[in-house]
Amino acid sequence: MISQQKIEELQAALQELKAAREQELEELRIQWLGKKGEITRLFEEFRTVSPEQKREFGQRLNQLKTAAQNRINELREALDQIAGGGKASFDLTKPGDRMDLGARHPISITREEILSIFRKFGYSVAEGPEIEDDWHVFSALNFPPEHPARDMQDTFFVSPGGENPILLRTHTSSVQVRTMERQQPPIRVVCPGRVFRNEAISARAHCIFHQVEGLYIDKNVSFADLKQAILLFAREMFGPETQIRMRPSYFPFTEPSAEVDVSCNICHGKGCNICKGTGWLEILGCGMVDPNVLRANGIDPEVYSGFAFGMGIERIAMLKWQVKDLRHYFENDLRFLREFETVI
Ligand code: DAH
Repeated sequence: MISQQKIEELQAALQELKAAREQELEELRIQWLGKKGEITRLFEEFRTVSPEQKREFGQRLNQLKTAAQNRINELREALDQIAGGGKASFDLTKPGDRMDLGARHPISITREEILSIFRKFGYSVAEGPEIEDDWHVFSALNFPPEHPARDMQDTFFVSPGGENPILLRTHTSSVQVRTMERQQPPIRVVCPGRVFRNEAISARAHCIFHQVEGLYIDKNVSFADLKQAILLFAREMFGPETQIRMRPSYFPFTEPSAEVDVSCNICHGKGCNICKGTGWLEILGCGMVDPNVLRANGIDPEVYSGFAFGMGIERIAMLKWQVKDLRHYFENDLRFLREFETVI
């Protein structure tokens, strides 16, 4: 039966209401405000109240109803906050999402392998800037102005004008120059890095790729030393049976210059489609440092001599793993990258 006491009791009980889940809250709403709920029932009983008491009971009942609505709203807001604005509800007892382990990129793996071989031979690692000037990329390496060899490499210019244009280095040979500026012989460095050439992207060429440059300068360094260093490197990289051959070539910064081939590690010289039937695969360019380069960098060619070499990391990695398309290295397709997950 409706009474002041009953209304007060309900009012107090409202403050005690709790809901930990959406469903519980809905049950409370039905229990209090639903068609068959407590408050609706009191409103029905209100009809039996004597006319003198109607005014007071009416006010009280309305207050109770508003208080119940407010309380339910409060509980709803609290629940929404826990569930992140009500959009998603988290179940903290569920297991977490699996995180895939990362793996090293084949270019990083190959770079490290090349460097670690040369570290064993006593070389240290030197690096230089990717944005360079004409002096370090061309002039100090014996490319005269207007020399056609400058056209061999399509250069990206950052600021083409002036005495010493700024450009993206086209080879890591620029780090030779930076090393000679800093240091007198003996010099024994390998210089890994990214290089840039304005080439159309295809299976065999890219406008961004990676090289390792090598430089060795001391007294009495000979072509035989160069040949031995390259042979030992090739055997460490491609296996102890590997043979090398040198073909005469031309680079402005070395004289004489050579290109080096290794015996094909697929067919062992018999001829296959990787080596195009020749039994040989080209891996690098090299030569004896031109006396003009030594002179331009403050080293006396009467006292010192040296050799240099340069190789493309992508090319070495392609030969090592028979990757047929250079673009795989840049596309970050996980199906390709996962092939190298287990290579340490
Ligand atoms: N810089 C040459 C290139 O990018 C590679 C190279 C060839 C480097 C012969 C050398 C070298 O040090 O002696 O094609």
